[in-house]
Amino acid sequence: MNRETGAGLLHRLTSYSPDREWDVPADDPRVRHDLTPNDPDTHPPFTKGYPGQPRLALPRELPTPGTSATAVLAGHRPAPHLLDAAQLGRILFLGAGIVRVAERRGREHPFRASGSGGARFPLEVYASTCGVEGVPDGVHWYDPEAHALVQVGPPAEGSATTLVVTGVPWRTGWRYAERGWRHLYWDAGTLLSQLSAAAASVGRPPRLRTLFPDATLRALVGADGVHEYPLALLSLGDAAPAVVPSGAALLGDLPPVEFPLCTEAQRAGERDTLGEPWPDGAPLDDAPPAGSIDEVILRRGSQRRMDPERTLPRSHLDWPLRAALRGITVPHWVVVHGVEDTAPGVYRWPDLVYPGELRDELTRVCLDQGLAGDAAYVVIAAAPAAELDDRGYRDAQLAAGLVEGRLHLAAYALGAGATGMTFLDSEVPALLRLPEDTVTLLFTCVGVPSYRARRGGPPGAPTTFRPVTPPPGLTPAGGSVLGCGPLRRPPRRPDAAGSGRTGRGRPPATRRSAARTSRAARTWRR
Ligand SMILES: Cc1cc2nc3c(=O)[nH]c(=O)nc-3n(C[C@H](O)[C@H](O)[C@H](O)COP(=O)(O)O)c2cc1C
Repeated sequence: MNRETGAGLLHRLTSYSPDREWDVPADDPRVRHDLTPNDPDTHPPFTKGYPGQPRLALPRELPTPGTSATAVLAGHRPAPHLLDAAQLGRILFLGAGIVRVAERRGREHPFRASGSGGARFPLEVYASTCGVEGVPDGVHWYDPEAHALVQVGPPAEGSATTLVVTGVPWRTGWRYAERGWRHLYWDAGTLLSQLSAAAASVGRPPRLRTLFPDATLRALVGADGVHEYPLALLSLGDAAPAVVPSGAALLGDLPPVEFPLCTEAQRAGERDTLGEPWPDGAPLDDAPPAGSIDEVILRRGSQRRMDPERTLPRSHLDWPLRAALRGITVPHWVVVHGVEDTAPGVYRWPDLVYPGELRDELTRVCLDQGLAGDAAYVVIAAAPAAELDDRGYRDAQLAAGLVEGRLHLAAYALGAGATGMTFLDSEVPALLRLPEDTVTLLFTCVGVPSYRARRGGPPGAPTTFRPVTPPPGLTPAGGSVLGCGPLRRPPRRPDAAGSGRTGRGRPPATRRSAARTSRAARTWRR
């Protein structure tokens, strides 16, 4: 990876280190210095706009197959179901649908079915349909607010109905500036983990491709390559993806805010061939009892508080990791804090790299976010820089997001909780005992939930909720996405996963947090 151009340059200039606040841009003219992060006056719209275009309403009654979440994650496949408008709508909804709405200062903030750093939800999903009963063949944008399709282009050549995930850099850059480009790929991974699970649960083999002709895909969905670009394709079956455009697509409306560094990073990875789908990975023999994938997705949310005094059983580490890493070649490490029958320390799973109580160190490495220390374990994706080119960097980020999404689903299926987590890039190689030029990709925290989130609602009836604030000592990157409410520690729930106790002698989490450095807390007040 060349750190002077393309994705490598973006990675370098968006790396967090303790000597610079997360929201202060690098001292380099190639990053924008004229934008104020999180400025309510410049808040981007939640979706792309197609004003006045006719909408095809998708059935709001979802045809739920009842397939177990763990069976899907294990790679067990039921016989194929009919792919009609309702089933396509179910698949889209379980990835990109609006399931919750938070109300704050009179404004509604929609939350989607899959997670997104800072709740920015910077992705769009299009369906290029072929032979879906009740949907004309063509290229359609999924409108999550209406649970409807807007036809934006004529039918494409190819025969497998294919979902195209695009990213809108400004929607996440509004908060994270140029680092938001990484978030596009992370969030695309979490979204694709759910779209894939929903498709697999009705026997439609999800075929993920991240090598594709970028210019062709941009033309297919009407993405201009500056304010929106294609990130990944997911075909619902093995046939040739329907991605060769037969005519022009509508462009739709997006605010014209550009991050030139992101545009350059994206362009540097552009290619002109369609690659093979990602390998599935061998199915697992075992799938523990769990609710249906639909039920688990609606129950999923990012766990805002985890109980550091309770442990998870070893099976809640072992199985989610095996399921999440199926077919994935990007290396992953695990920092264990509180897992029964497992020594705390850093693992290149399943091998122990070194033992140690690392709760406070993980909190520090995650910009003083208490969840990283309160989790039972933290999974870390990282890759050697020498193995990544401009396209490989994108793939590695997306793979890390995919693993985060699968871990999330596996954790919730088993009764645990999870959250994605950002980090100080500069601190991770030493933590993992890796060379300094290691590229850190993403953290996922899994732990014992301190509360149960309200279940998401069906299309058209999202659950209204008030976001729980994570433990104190936070950065905006991980704090309440809508601002802080009063900090209260909820009572321990007897129904939480795991029963063991840990951390004897450790001060309670609230006191530990207060004792942590206040670097990030200072940032909040600015
Ligand atoms: C890639 C990624 C990174 C995230 N990073 C953090 C983080 O650093 N701190 C945190 O508290 N939550 C983090 N989250 C959780 C998001 O804040 C959460 O997904 C978002 O608020 C939407 O809420 P939901 O997941 O409950 O739907 C992350 C999520 C993702 C997908």
